[in-house]
Amino acid sequence: MDQDRIVVTGGTGVLGRAVVERLLTEGQPVRVVSRRPRPERGAKAYEWATADLRSGAGAGEAVRGARAVVHCASGVRRGEEEAMARTVIAAARGAAAPPHLVYVSIVGVDRIPFGYYRAKLAAEQVFAASGLPYTVQRATQFHDLLRAMFAFGAKAPLVPVPALRFQPIDVRDVAVRLAELALASPADGRASDIGGPRIRGARELARVYLAATGRGRRPVLPVRLPGRVFGAFRAGANLVPREPYGRIGFEEYLAGLDAPRSASYRG
Ligand SMILES: NC(=O)c1ccc[n+]([C@@H]2O[C@H](COP(=O)([O-])OP(=O)(O)OC[C@H]3O[C@@H](n4cnc5c(N)ncnc54)[C@H](OP(=O)(O)O)[C@@H]3O)[C@@H](O)[C@H]2O)c1
Repeated sequence: MDQDRIVVTGGTGVLGRAVVERLLTEGQPVRVVSRRPRPERGAKAYEWATADLRSGAGAGEAVRGARAVVHCASGVRRGEEEAMARTVIAAARGAAAPPHLVYVSIVGVDRIPFGYYRAKLAAEQVFAASGLPYTVQRATQFHDLLRAMFAFGAKAPLVPVPALRFQPIDVRDVAVRLAELALASPADGRASDIGGPRIRGARELARVYLAATGRGRRPVLPVRLPGRVFGAFRAGANLVPREPYGRIGFEEYLAGLDAPRSASYRG
């Protein structure tokens, strides 16, 4: 089997779908990895492998013939992130020539003592210790995450938001970088962190969200929370002030939600 595919774990997720779409646009052969069977309806422009990266079932077959694996699959349950990293590494070791492993992490995971972030840092270290060709790419919070947070808050008449700053990035911008990395030589370390085009307070971002969803008059209440996690966010550990990378802003992202999806990828 030719070793030319780019395997995208979590290719059904928010980021993974954007990565698949980007790679297909670039004419790359792609294989989506998911726990689910391939949907009956949908484009056939890519291969599909069903695997559970927590248990390891199907993982060897999923990475067979891969030139690179962009590991976008993620789990929030205890031990899951690290277990999945170990599965990807074990599967890659079984390949005739080990593929380049690209792991997606989050800006500030080494400074923000939040449980999921600690798990991401542990997974980064698992890749670093693997001895396989790898690259870690950290990104700031996605637009989708902030939208979900504001949508939840907007259920209340007074919309609570954390009194913090964010530099949200669009998954299409992250996908551009990940596609580039997948095709490049491994950094065997971290690529430079990437963030969205602007740093703004959650209050301002919430106002943008509310205006875009027809609730512009709804009051927003910034909430200052105690603790080390919020302290680290307040200190800006989630930001990349010197190196904005993303081009798509939050307004543009929200405006695009109503637009029809691209026809190239409907996984
Ligand atoms: N959200 C953010 O703001 C943000 C910021 C920076 C970095 N990141 C990182 O970006 C990555 C992608 O995030 P996302 O928001 O796109 O995630 P997501 O939408 O929640 O997607 C998670 C993916 O993981 C797959 N998955 C979960 N458990 C699995 C298992 N046991 N075996 C195989 N696949 C499994 C799911 O596939 P199936 O359900 O099809 O199996 C799904 O496609 C994560 O590593 C995250 O930490 C996120």
